Amino acid sequence: MFYTIDFNKIDITNAPPETEPERQYYFIAKCREYVQKKREELGRPLLCCIKTFGCQMNARDSEKLIGVLEAIGYQQVDTEEADFVIYNTCTVRENANLKVYGRLGYLKNLKKKNPNMKIALCGCMMQEEKVVEKIKKSYRFVDIIFGTHNIYKLAELIDIHLNSEKMAIDIWKDTDKIVEELPNERKYPFKSGVNIMFGCNNFCSYCIVPYVRGRERSRKPEDIVHEIENLVADGVVEIMLLGQNVNSYGKNLENSITFAELLKRIEKIEGLERIRFMTSHPKDLSDELIEVMKESKKICKQLHLPIQSGSSRILKAMNRHYTKEQYLELVKKIRGAVPDISLTTDIIVGFPGETQEDFEETLDVIRKVRFDSAFTFIYSKRTGTPAASMENQVPDDIIKERFDCLLAEVQKISAELTGRDIGKIEKVLVEEENTHQKGFVTGRLSNNILVHFEGKKELIGKIVSVKLEEAKGFYYIGTLSSTV
Ligand code: 5AD
Ligand code: SF4
Repeated sequence: MFYTIDFNKIDITNAPPETEPERQYYFIAKCREYVQKKREELGRPLLCCIKTFGCQMNARDSEKLIGVLEAIGYQQVDTEEADFVIYNTCTVRENANLKVYGRLGYLKNLKKKNPNMKIALCGCMMQEEKVVEKIKKSYRFVDIIFGTHNIYKLAELIDIHLNSEKMAIDIWKDTDKIVEELPNERKYPFKSGVNIMFGCNNFCSYCIVPYVRGRERSRKPEDIVHEIENLVADGVVEIMLLGQNVNSYGKNLENSITFAELLKRIEKIEGLERIRFMTSHPKDLSDELIEVMKESKKICKQLHLPIQSGSSRILKAMNRHYTKEQYLELVKKIRGAVPDISLTTDIIVGFPGETQEDFEETLDVIRKVRFDSAFTFIYSKRTGTPAASMENQVPDDIIKERFDCLLAEVQKISAELTGRDIGKIEKVLVEEENTHQKGFVTGRLSNNILVHFEGKKELIGKIVSVKLEEAKGFYYIGTLSSTV
């Protein structure tokens, strides 16, 4: 395993190994020499910073990238005034791209002040040819560009760049490779994301993800269980299983297995307390999974189930493979099995051809389901997706009006729901000291809602019982009831 590796013992005078992850261990060892030399030259440690845009998959990838940079010898800081800066980008909506271009201007100035600075860009945005072309042309100060399929190669790419002193670019169109057992650094010692699959095969007509994250690839169940066992041995009590569509996990494995079966195996891991997962596609959510959720002691009472639109006509154009009625039926089944489950969703407003009637259907679903919270998005045209060339794109002012209306409705319901557990004593995983109130800590309920209560920082990472006293918008104020 990586944490037993002594990088100082790797002989870098030999040629690099061909197999992974040994090849990357070799390049980590090589880059360590560079960092060590620079550190002596400058008389200070070398600092690194990674800014993550987008979803939980990117957040997890960033932990892996930080793990490699730390193994190389960089020290992590929050500010971009560092010697190695990575932007792990997102491209799911246009404004995610614009944010990155905006911040690159800022990085250019920082690099002028610190000639040792290295800048790397990776993530979904880099899988788009026109983006890479633009960076090659207008952002010459960027040192390394890589994509979503080869993040494990960071050390090797740093080495290539150091040797050539040119911009190192390595983007793969797709991959069937999954490289495990590289260093990774968790943001929280007591909880962790765990990738169970990569890519997406759904091709929802608005979505760029299948083009930038490639085809669905599931990790073997034994590798997943092994990783979680190691995490638990290292102090983790809560895991979040990650995939674009976890409900289709395992279908394309040689020995096929369902997501529900995987959950049953994970449930058995001793010492693991909480299991979360995302994202679930309504079309693939099976009765078997609902049954497992009902019986489980560890699966959290929370389900993220993106609906995207309440209009069956729009859902068809989105290529979602379910109707409004089928979604409502599914929610009924889930709530029947797990009555106190918290449901969250994603909704897109202004998909091409969306009429006022279609939008009213979305409002209707929101009122019927009463989601605990919902991420609401304005439709963003992504070049190359089928929806980008659809006629009847909705005018901006109408979209804005619908968006405001939807948000108000979602927030109203959300605030009403938060209060429903007042007076109850619930288990809370304590996550951090409260930044606003001294002597307070903040944790999460099984249903993911935040709770603030008086407590010492020694409670961080522990599951405690808290009485929920007061609901404030989207969180609770509580009092510690017991530390068991
Ligand atoms: N425009 C707006 N929202 C989008 N999403 C995906 N693609 C787009 C797009 N082109 C939203 C969906 C998805 C979430 C992660 O991002 O709601 O569930
Ligand atoms: Fe995009 Fe649809 Fe795949 Fe989700 S399921 S990543 S929305 S294509």
